[in-house]
Amino acid sequence: MPDPAIEIENLTKEYPFGFLHLKKRTSLEGLSMQVEMGDVFGFIGPNGAGKSTTIKLLMGLIFPTAGSARILGKPISDVEMHRDIGYLPEQPYFYDYLTAAEVLDYFARFHDLTAADRKDRVDRMLKKVGLETARKIQLRKYSKGMLQRVGLAQAILHDPKVVILDEPMSGLDPVGRREVRDIILELKKDGKTVMFSTHILSDAETLCDRVGVIVGGKLRGVGAPGTLVDMKTLGMEILFELTKPSNVPLLSSATRTGECYRLQVPEQELYGAIEQLRGAGARILSVSQVKATLEEFFMNLVEADRAQGAAVEVSEQ
Ligand SMILES: Nc1ncnc2c1ncn2[C@@H]1O[C@H](COP(=O)(O)OP(=O)(O)OP(=O)(O)O)[C@@H](O)[C@H]1O
Ligand SMILES: [Mg+2]
Repeated sequence: MPDPAIEIENLTKEYPFGFLHLKKRTSLEGLSMQVEMGDVFGFIGPNGAGKSTTIKLLMGLIFPTAGSARILGKPISDVEMHRDIGYLPEQPYFYDYLTAAEVLDYFARFHDLTAADRKDRVDRMLKKVGLETARKIQLRKYSKGMLQRVGLAQAILHDPKVVILDEPMSGLDPVGRREVRDIILELKKDGKTVMFSTHILSDAETLCDRVGVIVGGKLRGVGAPGTLVDMKTLGMEILFELTKPSNVPLLSSATRTGECYRLQVPEQELYGAIEQLRGAGARILSVSQVKATLEEFFMNLVEADRAQGAAVEVSEQ
C-alpha cells in the first residue's frame, strides 16, 4: 500500500475573540484523516464547518494551534512541498483587465520555466480547461464558470501531484459544475490526488472515491460515499398507474403526477399494499427500495449540531 497523499493528525485551530482576546473559538477540533494517493476526496460540510480552515492550514496560509499534517510525506511547514501541490482558493481574484493567457503566463513565472516552456504550458492548460478560444479575451468579460476554469488552470499549471480545491463548484450552474467535475475526473485519470471541499452533496457523491463529513469543526464520518450512509432500507416505493377513480385509503398517502402515483410503504406492508392497489384497478409500474442517501446522513448531523448549539446558548444565558 503506497503512503497516503495527505495525512492529517489531530489538527486543531482556535481563534481568539472577545475582550482582550481572552475567549477562544475552535474552528477545527482534533481533525485526523488521510487522503489516499490517486483518490478524489470530497470534504463536505455546511457553512462555517471548518473546510476552508483545514485547507488553509494544509496550504500553510494559517498555522495550527495543535496537531500536524503531511502532504506526500513532507510536513506542511516545509515550503518545498508546494512544488507538488496545486491550490484553488475559495474566492480567487484575478485582475480583470488581463486575458486568461496573460494571467496564466504570470503564474507560470513563479516556476522554473523557460519562455518557450511557459508558453507551451499555458497553451496546454488553456486547452485542458476548455478556454483556448477565449484566451485573448479579458477576464472582465468571462462568465463565473470561465473564471473558475482559469482558477483551475492556475492550480494545475505546474503539474502538481496533489490538487486542493476550495469550493470549485460554488456559484456555478449545472453546466459549469459538470465542466469542473470533468476536469477533476481528468486529473484523476492523469494520476493526481484531488481533495476538494463542497456543500453540494450530489457532486461529492458522483465524483469522490471517499468523502469526509465535517460539521462544527469536527469530522463526523469518513469513507466511500456508499459506506458512510447507513445502508438500511427506509421502505419500499411503489410506482403505479390508476386511470379510474377509487377510494382505497392508501391513495391519500400517495403523491400523484397525472395518472401516475408514487407510494412509500414499510417493507412488511408491501404485498398487502400491492393487493389493495391491484384490487382498485391500479397497474403496478415498479417497486423499488428506498435507501438512506448521503443527504439524509448529512442533514441529520447538521440538525443534531444545531440542536446542540441551541442548547449551549440557552444554558449560557
Ligand atoms: N480569521 C478568523 N478569525 C476568527 N474566526 C474565523 C476566522 N476564519 C474562520 N473563522 C471561523 O471558523 C469557522 C470555520 O470557518 P471556515 O471558513 O473554515 O468554514 P467553511 O467550512 O469553509 O464554510 P463555508 O462553507 O462558509 O466556506 C467559522 O465559524 C468562521 O467564522
Ligand atoms: Mg469555506
